[in-house]
Amino acid sequence: MNTDNPFTTDLEGEDDYPKRLLFARTRMSGRQRNYLDEHLPQWKINIDKAPQNLGGQNPADWFDKDYQDYALEIGFGGGEHLLGQARRNPQCGFIGCEPFPLGVAKLLRGIAQYDLTNIRIHCGDGRDIIDALADKTLCNLYLLYPDPWHKKKHHKRRFINTENLAAIHRVLTPRGGFLFASDIVPYVDWTLIHIRASGLFRLVAQSVEDWQAPPSQWFSTRYEEKAQREGRSTTYLRLQKLGGTIRKTGKK
Ligand SMILES: C[S@@+](CC[C@H](N)C(=O)[O-])C[C@H]1O[C@@H](n2cnc3c(N)ncnc32)[C@H](O)[C@@H]1O
Repeated sequence: MNTDNPFTTDLEGEDDYPKRLLFARTRMSGRQRNYLDEHLPQWKINIDKAPQNLGGQNPADWFDKDYQDYALEIGFGGGEHLLGQARRNPQCGFIGCEPFPLGVAKLLRGIAQYDLTNIRIHCGDGRDIIDALADKTLCNLYLLYPDPWHKKKHHKRRFINTENLAAIHRVLTPRGGFLFASDIVPYVDWTLIHIRASGLFRLVAQSVEDWQAPPSQWFSTRYEEKAQREGRSTTYLRLQKLGGTIRKTGKK
Protein backbone atom coordinates (compact mmCIF):
# COMPACT_ATOMS: atom_id res chain seq x y z
CA MET A 1 0.00 0.00 0.00
CA ASN A 2 1.34 3.44 -0.93
CA THR A 3 1.03 5.46 2.27
CA ASP A 4 1.80 8.73 0.43
CA ASN A 5 -1.39 8.38 -1.51
CA PRO A 6 -4.18 10.37 0.16
CA PHE A 7 -6.76 8.01 -1.29
CA THR A 8 -5.75 4.97 0.67
CA THR A 9 -8.14 3.77 3.32
CA ASP A 10 -8.15 1.23 6.04
CA LEU A 11 -10.54 -0.82 3.99
CA GLU A 12 -8.06 -1.60 1.25
CA GLY A 13 -7.58 -5.28 0.74
CA GLU A 14 -11.13 -6.15 1.68
CA ASP A 15 -13.20 -7.63 -1.08
CA ASP A 16 -16.16 -5.29 -1.47
CA TYR A 17 -16.25 -1.53 -1.82
CA PRO A 18 -12.47 -0.93 -1.62
CA LYS A 19 -11.95 -2.31 -5.13
CA ARG A 20 -14.06 0.58 -6.27
CA LEU A 21 -11.82 3.03 -4.43
CA LEU A 22 -8.84 1.56 -6.21
CA PHE A 23 -10.64 1.93 -9.50
CA ALA A 24 -11.34 5.59 -8.74
CA ARG A 25 -7.67 6.26 -8.06
CA THR A 26 -6.51 4.83 -11.36
CA ARG A 27 -8.68 7.25 -13.35
CA MET A 28 -6.70 10.34 -12.39
CA SER A 29 -4.47 12.04 -14.90
CA GLY A 30 -1.04 13.33 -13.92
CA ARG A 31 -2.34 16.89 -14.07
CA GLN A 32 -5.20 16.13 -11.73
CA ARG A 33 -2.84 14.35 -9.36
CA ASN A 34 -0.56 17.40 -9.39
CA TYR A 35 -3.46 19.67 -8.57
CA LEU A 36 -4.39 17.51 -5.60
CA ASP A 37 -0.79 17.21 -4.44
CA GLU A 38 -0.52 20.98 -4.45
CA HIS A 39 -3.82 21.96 -2.84
CA LEU A 40 -4.96 19.07 -0.70
CA PRO A 41 -2.37 19.15 2.10
CA GLN A 42 -3.77 22.43 3.42
CA TRP A 43 -7.23 20.93 3.95
CA LYS A 44 -6.60 17.24 4.47
CA ILE A 45 -7.46 15.68 7.82
CA ASN A 46 -4.79 13.59 9.46
CA ILE A 47 -6.60 11.05 11.56
CA ASP A 48 -4.72 9.83 14.57
CA LYS A 49 -4.94 6.08 14.01
CA ALA A 50 -3.38 5.03 17.31
CA PRO A 51 -5.93 2.56 18.72
CA GLN A 52 -6.08 4.37 22.06
CA ASN A 53 -7.04 7.62 20.27
CA LEU A 54 -9.76 6.25 18.03
CA GLY A 55 -13.17 7.30 19.28
CA GLY A 56 -11.70 10.23 21.20
CA GLN A 57 -10.75 12.89 18.66
CA ASN A 58 -12.15 16.36 18.75
CA PRO A 59 -13.05 17.82 15.34
CA ALA A 60 -11.73 21.19 16.52
CA ASP A 61 -8.22 19.71 16.36
CA TRP A 62 -8.57 19.34 12.59
CA PHE A 63 -9.26 23.04 12.04
CA ASP A 64 -7.14 26.10 12.65
CA LYS A 65 -9.70 27.66 15.00
CA ASP A 66 -12.63 26.58 17.15
CA TYR A 67 -16.08 26.57 15.57
CA GLN A 68 -19.41 26.72 17.31
CA ASP A 69 -20.53 23.45 15.68
CA TYR A 70 -19.17 20.70 13.47
CA ALA A 71 -20.90 18.80 10.68
CA LEU A 72 -19.95 15.88 8.43
CA GLU A 73 -20.95 15.02 4.87
CA ILE A 74 -20.24 11.47 3.75
CA GLY A 75 -19.76 11.01 0.00
CA PHE A 76 -19.90 14.67 -1.02
CA GLY A 77 -19.43 13.84 -4.73
CA GLY A 78 -18.62 17.15 -6.44
CA GLY A 79 -19.06 19.07 -3.17
CA GLU A 80 -22.04 21.21 -4.24
CA HIS A 81 -23.95 20.74 -0.99
CA LEU A 82 -20.88 20.95 1.21
CA LEU A 83 -19.74 24.21 -0.38
CA GLY A 84 -23.22 25.69 -0.07
CA GLN A 85 -23.49 24.76 3.61
CA ALA A 86 -19.99 26.03 4.40
CA ARG A 87 -20.67 29.35 2.72
CA ARG A 88 -23.99 29.79 4.50
CA ASN A 89 -22.75 28.70 7.93
CA PRO A 90 -19.35 30.25 8.65
CA GLN A 91 -19.79 29.46 12.37
CA CYS A 92 -19.70 25.72 11.61
CA GLY A 93 -16.68 23.58 10.71
CA PHE A 94 -17.53 21.13 7.91
CA ILE A 95 -15.81 17.81 7.35
CA GLY A 96 -16.25 16.19 3.95
CA CYS A 97 -15.43 12.57 3.10
CA GLU A 98 -15.11 11.38 -0.47
CA PRO A 99 -12.92 8.65 -1.96
CA PHE A 100 -13.46 9.85 -5.55
CA PRO A 101 -10.43 12.03 -6.43
CA LEU A 102 -12.11 14.11 -9.12
CA GLY A 103 -14.80 15.07 -6.63
CA VAL A 104 -12.14 16.11 -4.14
CA ALA A 105 -10.45 18.23 -6.82
CA LYS A 106 -13.77 19.91 -7.56
CA LEU A 107 -14.31 20.69 -3.89
CA LEU A 108 -10.81 22.14 -3.65
CA ARG A 109 -11.58 24.47 -6.55
CA GLY A 110 -14.76 25.58 -4.76
CA ILE A 111 -12.87 26.22 -1.52
CA ALA A 112 -10.45 28.46 -3.41
CA GLN A 113 -13.17 30.17 -5.43
CA TYR A 114 -15.21 31.12 -2.36
CA ASP A 115 -12.21 31.68 -0.12
CA LEU A 116 -13.51 29.24 2.49
CA THR A 117 -11.58 28.15 5.55
CA ASN A 118 -14.23 26.13 7.41
CA ILE A 119 -13.93 22.86 5.42
CA ARG A 120 -11.64 19.90 6.03
CA ILE A 121 -11.39 16.84 3.80
CA HIS A 122 -10.91 13.14 4.32
CA CYS A 123 -10.16 11.43 1.00
CA GLY A 124 -11.63 8.11 1.94
CA ASP A 125 -14.31 6.27 3.81
CA GLY A 126 -16.68 8.22 6.04
CA ARG A 127 -16.40 5.49 8.65
CA ASP A 128 -12.73 6.42 9.21
CA ILE A 129 -13.84 9.83 10.45
CA ILE A 130 -16.76 8.57 12.50
CA ASP A 131 -14.57 5.95 14.15
CA ALA A 132 -11.96 8.59 15.02
CA LEU A 133 -14.40 11.11 16.52
CA ALA A 134 -15.26 11.39 20.18
CA ASP A 135 -18.87 10.91 21.29
CA LYS A 136 -21.34 13.77 20.70
CA THR A 137 -19.11 15.95 18.57
CA LEU A 138 -21.22 16.56 15.43
CA CYS A 139 -24.38 18.63 15.24
CA ASN A 140 -25.29 17.36 11.77
CA LEU A 141 -24.43 14.49 9.48
CA TYR A 142 -25.42 14.37 5.80
CA LEU A 143 -25.65 11.30 3.57
CA LEU A 144 -26.97 12.43 0.19
CA TYR A 145 -27.70 10.00 -2.61
CA PRO A 146 -25.51 7.20 -1.25
CA ASP A 147 -24.65 4.42 -3.68
CA PRO A 148 -27.74 2.19 -3.75
CA TRP A 149 -26.02 -1.12 -4.56
CA HIS A 150 -29.11 -2.48 -6.31
CA LYS A 151 -28.24 -6.17 -6.46
CA LYS A 152 -29.30 -8.16 -3.43
CA LYS A 153 -25.88 -9.73 -3.06
CA HIS A 154 -24.45 -6.19 -2.80
CA HIS A 155 -26.88 -4.85 -0.20
CA LYS A 156 -24.26 -5.45 2.47
CA ARG A 157 -22.21 -2.65 0.86
CA ARG A 158 -24.89 -0.04 1.56
CA PHE A 159 -23.74 2.64 3.96
CA ILE A 160 -26.90 2.32 5.99
CA ASN A 161 -26.61 -0.71 8.21
CA THR A 162 -27.06 -1.47 11.89
CA GLU A 163 -23.44 -0.85 12.76
CA ASN A 164 -23.12 2.46 10.90
CA LEU A 165 -26.37 3.78 12.40
CA ALA A 166 -25.03 3.07 15.88
CA ALA A 167 -21.75 4.80 14.97
CA ILE A 168 -23.57 7.85 13.59
CA HIS A 169 -25.74 7.99 16.71
CA ARG A 170 -22.63 7.94 18.91
CA VAL A 171 -20.97 10.96 17.29
CA LEU A 172 -24.05 13.17 17.09
CA THR A 173 -24.71 15.68 19.85
CA PRO A 174 -27.92 15.14 21.85
CA ARG A 175 -30.75 15.92 19.44
CA GLY A 176 -28.21 16.18 16.61
CA GLY A 177 -29.54 15.74 13.07
CA PHE A 178 -28.92 13.10 10.43
CA LEU A 179 -30.17 13.86 6.93
CA PHE A 180 -30.52 11.01 4.45
CA ALA A 181 -31.64 11.74 0.88
CA SER A 182 -32.18 9.26 -1.92
CA ASP A 183 -34.12 8.88 -5.15
CA ILE A 184 -33.97 5.08 -4.96
CA VAL A 185 -37.18 3.82 -3.37
CA PRO A 186 -35.84 0.42 -2.24
CA TYR A 187 -32.93 2.14 -0.50
CA VAL A 188 -35.30 4.55 1.25
CA ASP A 189 -37.38 1.57 2.42
CA TRP A 190 -34.22 -0.21 3.56
CA THR A 191 -33.18 2.87 5.51
CA LEU A 192 -36.56 3.29 7.18
CA ILE A 193 -36.54 -0.37 8.23
CA HIS A 194 -33.05 -0.04 9.72
CA ILE A 195 -33.87 3.24 11.44
CA ARG A 196 -37.00 1.80 13.01
CA ALA A 197 -35.19 -1.37 14.11
CA SER A 198 -32.38 0.65 15.66
CA GLY A 199 -34.60 2.78 17.86
CA LEU A 200 -31.87 5.42 17.70
CA PHE A 201 -33.51 8.16 15.63
CA ARG A 202 -36.82 9.93 15.35
CA LEU A 203 -38.14 10.72 11.90
CA VAL A 204 -38.98 14.42 11.78
CA ALA A 205 -41.97 14.48 9.45
CA GLN A 206 -45.64 15.21 9.93
CA SER A 207 -46.75 13.92 6.57
CA VAL A 208 -45.55 12.36 3.34
CA GLU A 209 -45.20 15.86 1.88
CA ASP A 210 -42.47 16.57 4.44
CA TRP A 211 -40.42 13.72 3.00
CA GLN A 212 -40.74 15.02 -0.52
CA ALA A 213 -39.38 18.51 -0.02
CA PRO A 214 -35.77 19.32 0.75
CA PRO A 215 -34.98 21.23 3.94
CA SER A 216 -35.12 24.99 3.61
CA GLN A 217 -31.91 26.59 2.36
CA TRP A 218 -31.06 23.52 0.36
CA PHE A 219 -28.11 23.05 -1.98
CA SER A 220 -28.84 20.66 -4.78
CA THR A 221 -26.19 18.14 -5.83
CA ARG A 222 -25.19 16.65 -9.15
CA TYR A 223 -27.02 13.42 -8.33
CA GLU A 224 -30.12 15.27 -7.30
CA GLU A 225 -30.18 17.10 -10.62
CA LYS A 226 -29.65 13.84 -12.47
CA ALA A 227 -32.56 12.25 -10.59
CA GLN A 228 -34.78 15.21 -11.45
CA ARG A 229 -33.81 15.08 -15.13
CA GLU A 230 -34.64 11.39 -15.19
CA GLY A 231 -37.99 11.90 -13.48
CA ARG A 232 -37.22 10.36 -10.08
CA SER A 233 -38.33 12.19 -6.98
CA THR A 234 -36.25 12.31 -3.84
CA THR A 235 -37.15 11.29 -0.31
CA TYR A 236 -35.52 13.43 2.38
CA LEU A 237 -35.41 11.68 5.75
CA ARG A 238 -34.73 14.18 8.51
CA LEU A 239 -33.69 12.12 11.50
CA GLN A 240 -33.14 13.37 14.99
CA LYS A 241 -30.97 11.56 17.47
CA LEU A 242 -32.84 9.94 20.33
CA GLY A 243 -31.34 9.34 23.74
CA GLY A 244 -31.20 5.96 25.37
CA THR A 245 -29.20 2.85 24.78
CA ILE A 246 -28.54 1.10 21.53
CA ARG A 247 -31.07 -1.59 20.67
CA LYS A 248 -29.90 -4.51 18.56
CA THR A 249 -31.86 -5.34 15.38
CA GLY A 250 -34.37 -8.11 15.89
CA LYS A 251 -34.72 -7.62 19.65
CA LYS A 252 -37.80 -6.10 21.21
C1 LIG B 1 -24.15 8.42 -5.86
S1 LIG B 1 -22.81 9.41 -5.38
C2 LIG B 1 -23.57 10.85 -4.67
C3 LIG B 1 -22.61 12.00 -4.57
C4 LIG B 1 -23.18 13.28 -3.94
N1 LIG B 1 -23.61 13.05 -2.57
C5 LIG B 1 -24.32 13.83 -4.76
O1 LIG B 1 -25.47 13.84 -4.24
O2 LIG B 1 -24.07 14.25 -5.90
C6 LIG B 1 -22.22 8.56 -3.92
C7 LIG B 1 -20.87 9.07 -3.47
O3 LIG B 1 -20.52 8.49 -2.24
C8 LIG B 1 -19.13 8.19 -2.24
N2 LIG B 1 -18.97 7.12 -1.25
C9 LIG B 1 -19.37 5.84 -1.34
N3 LIG B 1 -19.10 5.16 -0.23
C10 LIG B 1 -18.49 6.03 0.61
C11 LIG B 1 -17.97 5.94 1.92
N4 LIG B 1 -17.99 4.77 2.59
N5 LIG B 1 -17.43 7.03 2.48
C12 LIG B 1 -17.39 8.21 1.81
N6 LIG B 1 -17.89 8.36 0.54
C13 LIG B 1 -18.42 7.29 -0.03
C14 LIG B 1 -18.86 7.79 -3.67
O4 LIG B 1 -17.50 7.94 -4.04
C15 LIG B 1 -19.74 8.75 -4.44
O5 LIG B 1 -19.09 9.95 -4.77
